[in-house]
Amino acid sequence: MAESDSKIDTIPPDKIPRHVAIIMDGNGRWALARGLPRLAGHRAGTENLRRILRASVEFGIKYLTIYAFSTENWGRPPEEVRGLMRILEDVIDRELDELDKEGVQLRHIGRLERLDPRLQEKVLQAIERTKDNDRLILNVAFNYGGRDEIVCAIQRMIRDGVKAEDVTAELVSRYLFTAGVPDPDLIIRTSGELRISNFLIWQAAYAEWYVTPTYWPDFDKEEFRRALEAYAQRDRRFGGISPAVEDKVHAG
Ligand code: FPP
Repeated sequence: MAESDSKIDTIPPDKIPRHVAIIMDGNGRWALARGLPRLAGHRAGTENLRRILRASVEFGIKYLTIYAFSTENWGRPPEEVRGLMRILEDVIDRELDELDKEGVQLRHIGRLERLDPRLQEKVLQAIERTKDNDRLILNVAFNYGGRDEIVCAIQRMIRDGVKAEDVTAELVSRYLFTAGVPDPDLIIRTSGELRISNFLIWQAAYAEWYVTPTYWPDFDKEEFRRALEAYAQRDRRFGGISPAVEDKVHAG
């Protein structure tokens, strides 16, 4: 067994996050540092995604959400936008059999409408084909924006005639693209930027963050394990106080 595999056993299963979300940042800088075009960075990032997916299954993570294309990414040069669309198509064409075999259920969050109708169809077919898999739920955020998601939820609530007094945080969650998916426990951002970039802004309310300077194509299984170890050390209080402190308060 590889050393990294044995080390993961040191993390108790109840300390493994159920839902990990990743901002896969730094593909462009990774390419620049090598004198390559930006798209070569996105291709390398896609290769890495394959490794991290496999590791997620091994580590026992149940939900993985990846930020692949934001509502703001339409502002990038047309060639890069086209390249990212092609990557999504290639991933479905080349990886779907393998993903299906590994028990991965593919889901999409964001709006499909602006994508080429052929690509929309491909995404919908992939979702349909994998809908009964339950080893790992992979949410692909593509043409996704957190504000757009909330706007969309409000529009649908109004259309459904939801009364103001019936609006609760619970209900809002059920109107989001992520309905039925637990909130992320851990959000990883590669390449060192300290911002949320419109990613899961509602769902991230109590997520733990792990930010690393490593560019996404270089974020390997070993560093993923380090992120999980860091998460396992966190004291999650959800706005309350930790049980140890509570005991002292009561004893006092
Ligand atoms: C951010 O890096 C990355 C993206 C906008 C795209 C992420 C996409 C992939 C890793 C490919 C996988 C995609 C699918 C559809 C499964 P950046 O370009 O902003 O990097 P920079 O900040 O260094 O320029």
